[in-house]
Amino acid sequence: MYSYEKLQEIAQFIKSKLNCEPQIAITLGSGLGSLVGDIKNSVEIDYKDIPGFPLSTVEGHEGKLVCGKIGNKPVIAMKGRFHYYEGYDISQVVIAIRVFKLLGINDLLVTNAAGGINKCFSPGDLMIIRDHISLFAPSPLRGKNFDEFGARFPDMSEAYSKELRGLLKKASAELGINMQEGVYVFAKGPMYETPSEIRALNVLGADAVGMSTVPEVIAARHAGMNVMGISCITNMASGILNQPLNHEEVIQTAKQAEKNFTCVVKKVIDMWPV
Ligand code: HPA
Repeated sequence: MYSYEKLQEIAQFIKSKLNCEPQIAITLGSGLGSLVGDIKNSVEIDYKDIPGFPLSTVEGHEGKLVCGKIGNKPVIAMKGRFHYYEGYDISQVVIAIRVFKLLGINDLLVTNAAGGINKCFSPGDLMIIRDHISLFAPSPLRGKNFDEFGARFPDMSEAYSKELRGLLKKASAELGINMQEGVYVFAKGPMYETPSEIRALNVLGADAVGMSTVPEVIAARHAGMNVMGISCITNMASGILNQPLNHEEVIQTAKQAEKNFTCVVKKVIDMWPV
């Protein structure tokens, strides 16, 4: 656990390196990192050079912040995020989100690779996250409340902004890219789920499953940030097809979907009301 002052120090350090004031933060999921190539006049900061910042340990996840402009919008992207399964304390998983808030950022786009539970989905589909199920996720808000960010018992009735979901629908429709919409459920990982777990999650109302995003969105909402979420369906979840899952397939399918993903993200950033 870190203190509010520690978060302020990290934010101050990052701010001293930036050449613009980012207004939208973007967390890039596994295999979806090439968007950073579209960030102009960028400044890059390796996580390892940020005092007090955790390091990303997963293959397919580099660890750096990239700040600059997409179109005329100043953004900051995380290439490489922190997952609970890597062994971090859950409060460390959301450290970057809180630092973004301290940098004055009120808008967050979270993206991830996810397994498709909804049988209407196919690998390579992009999904607008309508809501999430966090019952199996340890809460990043556990422990003493950071009153500076938000309330002890924050509302989660619109975790993913309705307005931003509408914007994403509009952006994808204008591009002729079909997007699914659904509910993302957090799984602690790092093992993929069993077929029985997936059947259970389906009954609970989940359309896609993954090992990230939910803690970050909870911390962002706690701090009053507006959130948009996009999942890239990289595989059908365990037991839906009669085949084992592996990380290479996840990365490979994300790479294949990356062109559409990048197009949609650039467009929606352009339309974003900041
Ligand atoms: N399960 C959990 N996390 C994932 C999956 C999955 O099937 N695919 C990509 N991330």
